[in-house]
Amino acid sequence: MLLLQIESLIDGEDNETGVLANVSAALASAMPQFFWTGFYLVNDDELRLGPFQGTVACYHIPYNKGVCGTAWARRETLVVPDVDAFPGHIACSSLSRSEIVVPMFGAAGKVWGVLDIDSKDLSAFDETDKKYLEKVTSLLSKQLGKCFFFNFCCKYENIILILSFGNLILRNMIDVKATLKESEERMEMAAMFLDDQLAKIRAGRANVAILSGVKVSSYGQMVPLNQVASVTVPDARTIAIKPWDRKAIRDIEKAIMASDVGITPENNGEIIRLSIPQPTEERRKELVKQCNKIGEKTKVEVRNVRSEIKEKLKKGIKDGLSEDNEKDAEAELQKLHDKFIKKIDDLLAAKTKEIMTV
Ligand code: SME
Repeated sequence: MLLLQIESLIDGEDNETGVLANVSAALASAMPQFFWTGFYLVNDDELRLGPFQGTVACYHIPYNKGVCGTAWARRETLVVPDVDAFPGHIACSSLSRSEIVVPMFGAAGKVWGVLDIDSKDLSAFDETDKKYLEKVTSLLSKQLGKCFFFNFCCKYENIILILSFGNLILRNMIDVKATLKESEERMEMAAMFLDDQLAKIRAGRANVAILSGVKVSSYGQMVPLNQVASVTVPDARTIAIKPWDRKAIRDIEKAIMASDVGITPENNGEIIRLSIPQPTEERRKELVKQCNKIGEKTKVEVRNVRSEIKEKLKKGIKDGLSEDNEKDAEAELQKLHDKFIKKIDDLLAAKTKEIMTV
């Protein structure tokens, strides 16, 4: 009877908040013995409080936490006769003694929210409530356009989709190729950053990269040195800086002295020369250590990308990615990881050689 009422109550309405608010009101007035009747909606990794009737409630419930988060993760209705006996139950209200949580399934069987009803009494819900409330949630998913099969909004929708439409399922699944591409790009960026950092470490050879952070005051603005002068390497131990405008020479000199380049410029009025001092053996070892430290940081970054993407792939299973495909993607990810760790090691080896060569 109430089911028919709910059906006509929501018929033709697509305003999600309004529909959920009215359904919680209808359920609450039909079952006044329950003190909380309402919805939590999936938002990224958590459930967020939605429309409800009853006492104030928590705003956020993490995935797989509490009765609601667990029903979401397990993708099944949970009838909890005694909340105190449910590990990890979230007590938004001390009144709660028993509860029922019904996940709501959308496209590809993905959970988009849960219906939660709480009672002050122990064992207030049974299999009949479960069956009935699952029909209510199915109606809601259908009405709010959450699923592809209008008469069958359920957790198996992904299977039905595969059977019926083959490739269509891919639309709702994680895009493995794009995800792997993203991880490759991020690892590449980390390696590029290392390359850049290593270039700035001075090892006795003249390298214009040591001046890349130097900014010179020019017509009231701070601009990079190479915008006001030509920077060249006439020999392995010298850098020559020739200003486009001779008047700028003092400002350039000042800027170099104020920077962390650590070499005193020689100025002949036209050209500034920097003689690169040859580091001692001890200093060279120090520099190698410095490089390895940055290398280690870069490796951590590459590993972080790997674990983040791994997590994403694992979550993809929930959205319909097959375990076999997930395993293959993980293997690809591992290969990318190994490739960039090797690249980092190669960069470090080359830099070490450069530093230690007298
Ligand atoms: N008890 C629920 C939290 C929501 S409130 O009951 C409204 C849970 O454990 O997930």
